[in-house]
Amino acid sequence: MAEMMISLRNVSKTYVSMGDEVQALKSVSFDVNKGEAVSIMGHSGSGKSTLLSIIGALNPPTEGRVEIDGINIYELSQEMRADFRREYLGFVFQQFQLIPLSNSS
Ligand SMILES: Nc1ncnc2c1ncn2[C@@H]1O[C@H](COP(=O)(O)OP(=O)(O)O)[C@@H](O)[C@H]1O
Ligand SMILES: [Mg+2]
Repeated sequence: MAEMMISLRNVSKTYVSMGDEVQALKSVSFDVNKGEAVSIMGHSGSGKSTLLSIIGALNPPTEGRVEIDGINIYELSQEMRADFRREYLGFVFQQFQLIPLSNSS
């Protein structure tokens, strides 16, 4: 059997902003095996960025379990999760997240 790298079980994410609840993900489960290349497709607002940030150890799910290489990443302390991101993950942000030069105009 192929080696499992990423495993999501019943992952849900509900955002609450200004009293409104938005369910961005509803009980998502899948596995990605070692060496597999996967693309996630869906219309704008369907939850792609939310899903990637959850897999990227950047955004805790409201419910469910996320394991990467057998590690339940949201059971780690914040500090351990930061170490985990540094050692295991590369994440290219949609926005570049760079700090502008103070002398740029
Ligand atoms: N930080 C947030 N606070 C509140 N709602 C959010 C937040 N991020 C995303 N959403 C909402 O969650 C849903 C999914 O968004 P998102 O994951 O960005 O989708 P996609 O990347 O597929 O366009 C949308 O309805 C969006 O408005
Ligand atoms: Mg997006």
